[in-house]
Amino acid sequence: MAIELDIKKLTGLQPIIVKANPAAHSKMYIETYGCQMNVADSEVVVSILAQEGFSLTENYKEADLILINTCSIRDNAEQRIFNRLNEFKSLKKQRKGLLVGIIGCMAERLKEDLLEKVKLVDLVVGPDAYRDLPKLVREAEGGQRAINVLLSREETYAEISPVRLDKNGVSSFVSIMRGCDNMCAFCVVPYTRGRERSRNPETILNEIRELLEKGYKEVTLLGQNVDKYNWNNSEVSFARLLEMTALLTPDLRVRFSTSYPQDMTDEVLYTIAKYPNICNYIHLPVQSGSTEILEKMRRGYTREWYMDRISAIKRIIPDCAISSDFITGFCNETEEDHQQTLSLMEWVGFEYAYMFKYSERPNTFAARKMPDDVPEEVKSRRLDEIMELQHKLSHQSNLRDIGKTFEVLVEGISKKSDERLFGRNQQSKVVVFNKKDKKIGDYVMVKITTCTSATLHGEIVG
Ligand code: SAH
Ligand code: F3S
Repeated sequence: MAIELDIKKLTGLQPIIVKANPAAHSKMYIETYGCQMNVADSEVVVSILAQEGFSLTENYKEADLILINTCSIRDNAEQRIFNRLNEFKSLKKQRKGLLVGIIGCMAERLKEDLLEKVKLVDLVVGPDAYRDLPKLVREAEGGQRAINVLLSREETYAEISPVRLDKNGVSSFVSIMRGCDNMCAFCVVPYTRGRERSRNPETILNEIRELLEKGYKEVTLLGQNVDKYNWNNSEVSFARLLEMTALLTPDLRVRFSTSYPQDMTDEVLYTIAKYPNICNYIHLPVQSGSTEILEKMRRGYTREWYMDRISAIKRIIPDCAISSDFITGFCNETEEDHQQTLSLMEWVGFEYAYMFKYSERPNTFAARKMPDDVPEEVKSRRLDEIMELQHKLSHQSNLRDIGKTFEVLVEGISKKSDERLFGRNQQSKVVVFNKKDKKIGDYVMVKITTCTSATLHGEIVG
């Protein structure tokens, strides 16, 4: 079934040239892969095309324009998207005039190659070129293959009001900066998303005010390295932006992602501790527990530096949950390096982790200068070992929560029972509990009674 969106109502924006535009009755379908930033970008893309008269459909079979917002972070992410493209092939044959566009990181990485190699692709648009989409779609409608993969030093889509695509109307992402200047040796992001730049804080706060008016209760401020947020020569730092967001209303929960160990300051930690509505949860990707590997990864910090940052979090925000990212089998990683990762995990006791096998990405520093020399089966075995350990750590952390009472923001109805709701506590743990008279969007106090390694279960109190 198609979802016809009233764009003016949703965004407060006046749709322009709807009547004059041939696309006025066209339907678009968008599929999003990869990180939260891509989710936020898709919402900007829908907003830009809505102003051109495109309405959104959830059924790609009835779409006139199919867009795939893509991820290049690991090879398997790209393979998944190529497989998905194959599924659109027959549809393209059946429906004359159907346009298929690749947008986002794969568009930026592969550029013209996508048009040449994947015959069904009509449009290739990089992450900084979305404002050009209406023109590119028109070109593609006229039979040309349309491409814009220019990266920008300024573009932040600052004043564009995104069309929200989430289903629950409770929690939303807000992009505060774009790009990344860190140049970690393994990472493709600086090449696909360009240079770091911060968004005007007023436009960020306005977007959050709009969300509050629509009834949203939680925002996650997004950037590849939020600690580097810097507006107008340090006039507004990340700590200040967090504070300004928290002060909008105590009813709003504030989250952020992602912090970077080298750049995370105590000032940010004190700001989190000061405002009860800034969630006590920090995602602090470490990648490896070995200083030698960290050096080869060009992360700019040591194992000891990372441990110091963890100690600071635990000192300043005592009940803060901490999660991380890990890569196993990076170039030259020895068994000893791997053991150091395991021991760091034990030392921190992460609540949660995202764990990956190293995947060499073309043109990155590592791909150019270092052999991808850890055999596949060793990468897999090490990945299994860190996953197993993390499973144990998550379970231990959840067991420590039994008997505690948490404020939970209700996000939905439990998949297993209509009588139970689920939401998250500040620490970002999923909590399932009896429904009573509560509904999605409510804050409730829940006392934890049992748990698994993934979920806390409890009962409403008070
Ligand atoms: N700073 C970013 C990191 C983006 S990439 C953020 O906002 O999270 C997310 C994670 O993917 C990284 O932390 C890293 O663990 C993983 N990753 C990046 N490049 C990778 C590669 N080439 N192979 C395997 N994992 C990778
Ligand atoms: Fe990638 Fe490192 Fe930036 S992981 S996104 S280059 S912080």
